[in-house]
Amino acid sequence: MDFKSILERVAPLVKPQKRMEVGEKEVERYARMMAEAGYIPSTESLAAIKCCLEKYGVILSGDVGTGKTFFFQTLYRPIPKKMFTAQEIVAAHTPGDVAEWLSQWDESTFILDDLGAELRLNDYGNKVELLSLVIEHRARLRDVQTHITTNLSAKGIRERYGDRILDRINGMCKAVKFVGRSLRNAKPVRLS
Ligand SMILES: Nc1ncnc2c1ncn2[C@@H]1O[C@H](COP(=O)(O)OP(=O)(O)OP(=O)(O)O)[C@@H](O)[C@H]1O
Ligand SMILES: [Mg+2]
Repeated sequence: MDFKSILERVAPLVKPQKRMEVGEKEVERYARMMAEAGYIPSTESLAAIKCCLEKYGVILSGDVGTGKTFFFQTLYRPIPKKMFTAQEIVAAHTPGDVAEWLSQWDESTFILDDLGAELRLNDYGNKVELLSLVIEHRARLRDVQTHITTNLSAKGIRERYGDRILDRINGMCKAVKFVGRSLRNAKPVRLS
């Protein structure tokens, strides 16, 4: 058998590398679409759009009201993706069932909203970080995007979930920090 036919047999077993460079024009097209839904762009959000379009996972960190959740809602408005808050996951699942529940999205983009805002589970007296299991599960997948929003810094993530989880997140996501004040109750600008 020659080399080419060996490659042809192996090729289907190797997942294609879907990542590709996305140009400014495409990023701008998405930014405009998001602006139509009310999202005011920033340098950081343009960088985050680029990463998302290039099929990277993205972790958006920043203070409350800086538009992290709104970013994913408007980016994926045409085709909404699965998004759960950490608190919802902790309220609905146990360490025993979370992996099976998650596995239905093993082929899909998944957004973990508000990592760090959840309560710690108390499992027979042991404190359990259920979100560590969620992150480890998603980190084992290949060629699928996982996005995270959080108020925690890298240091905060390490302190709460440990080095191993921070490492998994870094392996799976590009980090973008949203800065500035809260836009949650921002008044519309008055035209004069
Ligand atoms: N870039 C933006 N353009 C327009 N409105 C924004 C923007 N960012 C935030 N807002 C407004 O602020 C509200 C709160 O934003 P969002 O819920 O995304 O904040 P967050 O960063 O997820 O905060 P938290 O850390 O509390 O979850 C939005 O519903 C929207 O009204
Ligand atoms: Mg949020």
